[in-house]
Amino acid sequence: MYLTKEEEKILNGDQGEVRERLFRLLVRLGDIYGADKMIPVGSVQVAGVSYKSIGDPGTEFLEDIASKNVKVKVLTFLNPAGMDLENWEKIGFPKDFAKNQLRIMNAFKQMGIIVTSTCTPYLAGNLPRFREHIAWSESSAVSFSNSVIGARTNREGGPSALAAAICGRTPNYGLHLWEKRQPTIKIHVDVELEFSSDFGALGYYVGKQVKNKIPYFTGIKNANTDHLKALGAAMAASGAVALYHVDGLTPEADLVKKNSLETIDVTKKELDATYEKLNSGKNPDIVILGCPHASLREISTLADKLNGKHLKKPIWICTSRVMKEAADRMGFTKIIERAGGFIVADTCMVVSPIEQMGYKTTGVNSGKAANYLPGFCKQEVVFANINKLIEVQT
Ligand code: F3S
Repeated sequence: MYLTKEEEKILNGDQGEVRERLFRLLVRLGDIYGADKMIPVGSVQVAGVSYKSIGDPGTEFLEDIASKNVKVKVLTFLNPAGMDLENWEKIGFPKDFAKNQLRIMNAFKQMGIIVTSTCTPYLAGNLPRFREHIAWSESSAVSFSNSVIGARTNREGGPSALAAAICGRTPNYGLHLWEKRQPTIKIHVDVELEFSSDFGALGYYVGKQVKNKIPYFTGIKNANTDHLKALGAAMAASGAVALYHVDGLTPEADLVKKNSLETIDVTKKELDATYEKLNSGKNPDIVILGCPHASLREISTLADKLNGKHLKKPIWICTSRVMKEAADRMGFTKIIERAGGFIVADTCMVVSPIEQMGYKTTGVNSGKAANYLPGFCKQEVVFANINKLIEVQT
């Protein structure tokens, strides 16, 4: 791989041992994937933030880097942590867990990373532009930035994203290259999609069918950004899809080559079967919305629906701190809390220790969460649209 003089110097240790070690990791990755050079990145999003995911070894690794006084070179955000970083006690997160989670956040902060823990950084102050090269980790954020924004990122692992943040570069391969962003399969959608859960079910089904391919959707008549984030998140979870195009809706759809692709049709039959497949439980102990992290529109919709209601069992909606603060200001938080719900910031149902908090059956409207909750959190799942989930909790 071609390296500039400055990059050669990093490899020779001129910018310290940590940067040398992490840059070596990027060069090795680039060599494996046939990158021709390094490219600068506009921003980074680092996954592997929850104590539940990285445990003591990950915490010690981060504290070691932070102790060497190494700072990131570009705007860097974090994936969700394992708890609400401000209201963890009130919501009932375990104390020991909180202590370790706060150690992790301190280490990231020392590195100059913005401790905004969210899988929707594009809603919280880290918005890349069309065709900007970035290095993001979280699969739903990767999918959204590639597909809906038209920025360019591979799905980075936690260490390679951290290396990109500290070195300001990433190897030029995969989805950074225009020729690798062409669709490889067509999906024709012949069913009305109304709720985010419909888009989640579609994403889950398509991900299973296409695994790692780049789908080009036709037949989706209308979708807002919340629907597209639900679609991409579910496809990323069930089929590692990091980029998709939607005819008439996403920015590269008109630019890519889509002739003579094999086509898969999706009808009501497949959607109904997916709902059935993702339902393993009956009566949720808790309903958790906001996977990926909720937008302000999704929070205000929930507040409208809960206004004047009294929940018998809790509903959480997960979001970023930035959205939560706007919701506080608008009075949405009060309405939701008055009904017996919570806006939970900085974390989500999958990376927080909900199984340790006594929950056994969780209701969700997200195809991604429905996919992960049984394995990651030992939950039975009720997968349904928001109206049905509110109905079962009241
Ligand atoms: Fe985000 Fe957690 Fe879902 S990281 S995409 S809310 S599983």
